[in-house]
Amino acid sequence: MIPIKNDRQITHMRESCAIAANVLQELKALVRPGISTQDLEEAGRAAIARHGARSACYGYQIGSRRYPAHTCISVNEEVVHGIPSFRRILRDGDIVSLDIVVEHEGYIGDNAVTVPVGLIAPAIQQLLRVTEEALRLGLAEARVGHRIGDISSAIQRHVEGHGYGVVRDMVGHGVGLSMHEEPQIPNFGRRNSGDRIKAGMTLAIEPMVNLGGYRTKMLSDGWTVVAADGSPSAHFEHTVLTTEKGPEILTIPRPILAPVHATAT
Ligand code: MF3
Ligand code: CO
Repeated sequence: MIPIKNDRQITHMRESCAIAANVLQELKALVRPGISTQDLEEAGRAAIARHGARSACYGYQIGSRRYPAHTCISVNEEVVHGIPSFRRILRDGDIVSLDIVVEHEGYIGDNAVTVPVGLIAPAIQQLLRVTEEALRLGLAEARVGHRIGDISSAIQRHVEGHGYGVVRDMVGHGVGLSMHEEPQIPNFGRRNSGDRIKAGMTLAIEPMVNLGGYRTKMLSDGWTVVAADGSPSAHFEHTVLTTEKGPEILTIPRPILAPVHATAT
């Protein structure tokens, strides 16, 4: 069953998603040649704490492994789940994906973006543009009455129409009280297939796109997923709320007001 969030839960989701978006925005602004991915990790950890939230990545368990960092920072051919390191210095012409998942008062917000480091080749600029467009097209399908496969198919058509490889080993997902809820949202699939979309679903839609083939492999660290052919890879992600009025992207940066406890006299 796909969880449907009530108004109270949606209020919480708005908050955690705004925090995730604010943190991502802050990290984006730091990207430049010469910075290490560990520098981004430390800035991310501090920003998450400043918002009174917690990283949902830190300690996240798959099998017997626990993810060792607060952010996922993936460079060039790294698709997702790159582990920040002092040794990984960003260079002019690289691309870097920043993936931020935060938990606040029990609710999770998830978003990611891929940004250029300095000046990048036009072919890689186009990869970023098409992947972000694919995310937009997928989000636009997150409408009441549509099906999950409509999201998948819109993404796949756009990506493959440009000759890129759409990653199949990882998928988008419902998000809320845990990082990965039902449904799975593949970035490939058929229109009119899968679960019917209802109001009150919170979905993380996240195309991962390789300049070359769609295949991936796992590095020996047990986390970093890379394009099998070594081609550059892009990743864009938003958490969206489905409403009767259409999709509402929740991971938009906004000022967060401190709760007011005092009563005016
Ligand atoms: N956004 C990533 C995902 O949905 C975050 C993973 S956290 C990690 O898979 F701990 F698995 F890296
Ligand atoms: Co995600």
